[in-house]
Amino acid sequence: MKLLVINGPNLNMLGIREKNIYGAETYEDLKALIEKTFAEQGIEGEIYQSNHEGALVDRIQQAYFDGTNAIVINPAAYTHTSVAILDALKAVSLPAVEVHISDVKEREDFRQISYAGKACEKTIMGKGFHGYVEAILYLVEKYK
Ligand code: DQA
Repeated sequence: MKLLVINGPNLNMLGIREKNIYGAETYEDLKALIEKTFAEQGIEGEIYQSNHEGALVDRIQQAYFDGTNAIVINPAAYTHTSVAILDALKAVSLPAVEVHISDVKEREDFRQISYAGKACEKTIMGKGFHGYVEAILYLVEKYK
């Protein structure tokens, strides 16, 4: 099984940005946790991060051609704005799980819509970095 984890804008700033919301652990810590989960599950995995909407769309499209079986995605702020990311997920039609580190449903009104979430079979939010582990385990259990 080949799994792709995609992170959107400003998630490379974890450990620096709004620690009261996202915690003190860094993006490197998050990558290490995800890599450890890939290894424990015996699956092939890739982690991709970009601050650019078009680059995220390109990476999702590439997943159709590179043998990816499932996607975990935290589109970050693009969650709430990007029809292009929604359309890309629909275009490739791969099983996807949406992750948010914070509990977005308890936050500002403008965070209450998720476009990407409309193409995801599950959303995990408010569980910190562990949400990524949960998303991977869900996809492995269902599709490996
Ligand atoms: C986030 C929530 C988004 O609203 C925000 O724009 C982010 C991170 C989260 O993981 O909690 O950048 O996706």
